[in-house]
Amino acid sequence: MMEAKKVMLSGIQPSGELHLGNYLGPLRHWPSMIEEFDCYFFLADLHTITVRQDPAALRRRTLSLLASYIACGLDPEKCVLFIQSHVPAHSQLTWVLNCYTMFGELSRMTQFKDKSARNADNINAGLFTYPVLMASDILLYQPDFVPVGEDQKQHVEICRDIANRFNGVYGDVFKVPEPYIARVGARIMSLSTPESKMSKSQPEGCVFLLEKPEDILRKFKRAVTDSDTERCVRYAPAEKPGVSNLVQIYAAATGKTYEDVEREFDGQGYGKFKPAVGEAVVEVLRPIREKTEQLLADKAYLEQVYRAGAERASYLAGKTLRKVYKKVGFLPG
Ligand code: TYM
Repeated sequence: MMEAKKVMLSGIQPSGELHLGNYLGPLRHWPSMIEEFDCYFFLADLHTITVRQDPAALRRRTLSLLASYIACGLDPEKCVLFIQSHVPAHSQLTWVLNCYTMFGELSRMTQFKDKSARNADNINAGLFTYPVLMASDILLYQPDFVPVGEDQKQHVEICRDIANRFNGVYGDVFKVPEPYIARVGARIMSLSTPESKMSKSQPEGCVFLLEKPEDILRKFKRAVTDSDTERCVRYAPAEKPGVSNLVQIYAAATGKTYEDVEREFDGQGYGKFKPAVGEAVVEVLRPIREKTEQLLADKAYLEQVYRAGAERASYLAGKTLRKVYKKVGFLPG
């Protein structure tokens, strides 16, 4: 008998434009997974409103992110691409799982602590229960693996804890998924402050996928390197965070190992290395940007993709939700 394909699921928030961390961390690996796994990739629009959004900009970015998913190689014929808010089961399961998640464990989430420090005037309940929505996103599809960057590992771990707690009461309702974190690119750092991760909230150190090549090159030329006297291209994150980040980016963009990169730039200063990293990134992003722009010109096609995706996602999500409702004792409607 043929073994069923394993299931993989992941999502990105359309809270800002896609950046190089999103791409080199998880996204670039996804296209190669769609042959081997049953894949579900979605746009986490529900998550974005934990921070105030401009409605028109959110709509525009959601569509643009969908176009970029396809441009990066996620063929909608071969995987399910959908928008989180189009599948109501995500919100419905969240309520149930809220009742199986402890205040104390949510209080320990580092992202909650960081985000509430940055949004002190809007520490809303959604920001606090954000990991429960993320757990629902995942558990509805019974995935084996959840490919994410390093910063989301804690959220996948709490998802596993919630699943185990629920299963402990009701039997094996949820598959307990594994995080899948690639070694190279799991944590791309800011080009301007290499001690913090690259993120849209610090645009000067962040390279966006749809940015113009000349702007990308300029950001790399200005990238902060380290004030050590050695001045050599070497991967040593603790001693040389800036240069190591550039080595990581170059390795991820070209498919080379860190050793290959060190050898290639042996004896050359940072002055040669920084523009070379910029060029490599520009070349990787060029076809993605061009394809995204092409796809955005065909709104009818994108609409058809997300409608079909929501239908396929709802089928599987609905199955899990019905099982959960039955287990907790809700009368069937
Ligand atoms: P988000 O939208 O912040 O980021 C999307 C993905 O990009 C990864 N990432 C990075 N990887 C390497 N270096 C960086 N500097 C970097 N910045 C971001 C993130 O780890 C993530 O994999 N809560 C999630 C979205 C989400 C989700 C889910 C993911 C909602 N539900 C269910 C997986 C499964 C988030 O905010 O990611």
